[in-house]
Amino acid sequence: MLFLPALLTTTAFVPSIFAAPSRTETAKRATCTVDSAEVAADLSGCSSVELTSFTVPNDTTITMSFAEGATVTMTGEVTFASTVASGPLLTFQGTNVQFNGNGMMFNGNGADYWDGLGTNGGKPKPHPFIAIEASGTFENFVAYNTPAQAIRVQPAADIGPLIIDGVYVNNAAGDADELGHNTDGFDVRGTDITIQNSIVENQDDCIAINDGSNILFQNNVCSGGHGMSIGSIATGDFVTGVVFSHNTVSNSMYGTRVKAQSAATTGAVSNVTWTGNTISGATKYGVLITQSYPDDDGTPGVDTPFSDVNFVGDPTSVTVVEDAHRVTVDCGNCAGTWDFSGLTVGGGLAGTIVSGDATVRQMTVDVQVRHTQSDMHAQIQGGSF
Ligand SMILES: *[C@@H]1O[C@H](CO)[C@@H](O)[C@H](O)[C@H]1NC(C)=O
Ligand SMILES: *[C@@H]1O[C@H](CO)[C@@H](O)[C@H](O)[C@H]1NC(C)=O
Repeated sequence: MLFLPALLTTTAFVPSIFAAPSRTETAKRATCTVDSAEVAADLSGCSSVELTSFTVPNDTTITMSFAEGATVTMTGEVTFASTVASGPLLTFQGTNVQFNGNGMMFNGNGADYWDGLGTNGGKPKPHPFIAIEASGTFENFVAYNTPAQAIRVQPAADIGPLIIDGVYVNNAAGDADELGHNTDGFDVRGTDITIQNSIVENQDDCIAINDGSNILFQNNVCSGGHGMSIGSIATGDFVTGVVFSHNTVSNSMYGTRVKAQSAATTGAVSNVTWTGNTISGATKYGVLITQSYPDDDGTPGVDTPFSDVNFVGDPTSVTVVEDAHRVTVDCGNCAGTWDFSGLTVGGGLAGTIVSGDATVRQMTVDVQVRHTQSDMHAQIQGGSF
């Protein structure tokens, strides 16, 4: 009995020594509500973040640097006023961030800027709109009416994988009078990146992969733009280990491209796989693999070798409109055996296959949508598709 008070004291004392969080831990446990650009600028102490509805004023950009492992949710729309700031207007940083947009939008007010000239002239357009420099998962948000390029995906080195899931880049309004331009969906540089279950409605590349490795683009829908691209590869850009799986591309100028700038002096593309994609009604080229960029099919450069380019597994089906080309390969420096057995093409015109040292193993030409039997015969004889 004499011990009881001591025991009680000890018991009561234990939690205050051993369970009391340090200052840092206390801070990290905080749930922070972001309701202004100012609050958004200091989130390092927040393990949980709620983004409510607010407007980002003119001449202001936001960098949200999240604590490691932070959980972020959106409960309102974040609107960017017309701004003279340069992009990115919104940057996400952090390691293993779990970001769920709950279907809410970041509104870029693109129509205030769109003049048909994109980033080539006219009114200055902040770009990209959003930069994701974090690792973790970013899901279920909308990038709406972006002034030019929508989302730059460029995680910092060595911070782990990044998954982008269920994101909707909605620049469909930019189709009106062809005012939206250079509104790329995702511009990617980095390693261990997955983009899936997302929708891009825009007027330029759905995705453009410019540098990096182990990049998976799957179950996405691309509409209105320039399809799924690697490049354009510029000097010093190296891309390897890309898979395009089960995506749908419609109403687009190109279905899918690998493009290197003819003037690039170093760089390479290797190990690219397409499987189970559906590309329909491309208006210029179904598949274009070229080292002549910015020309589609011109005088290719020789300093950015392409190798191991394959359409395999589940068939990738490609149709093009009348007067568009199904498949063109325009190589100055290509090598290896390219397996196109998982590629089925139809409609339009044959492209030309100039594959240099690479051997292109056959694809299937769907006679149902071809013009005439003799046309087919002539093209297969001529080595084009
Ligand atoms: C934004 O701010 C700049 C000055 O920083 C000003 O020139 C411009 O008119 C402002 N834009 C709007 C839409 O208010
Ligand atoms: C090709 O890329 C895939 C996907 O990133 C990867 O799993 C595979 O190991 C790569 N193959 C080679 C030979 O590098």
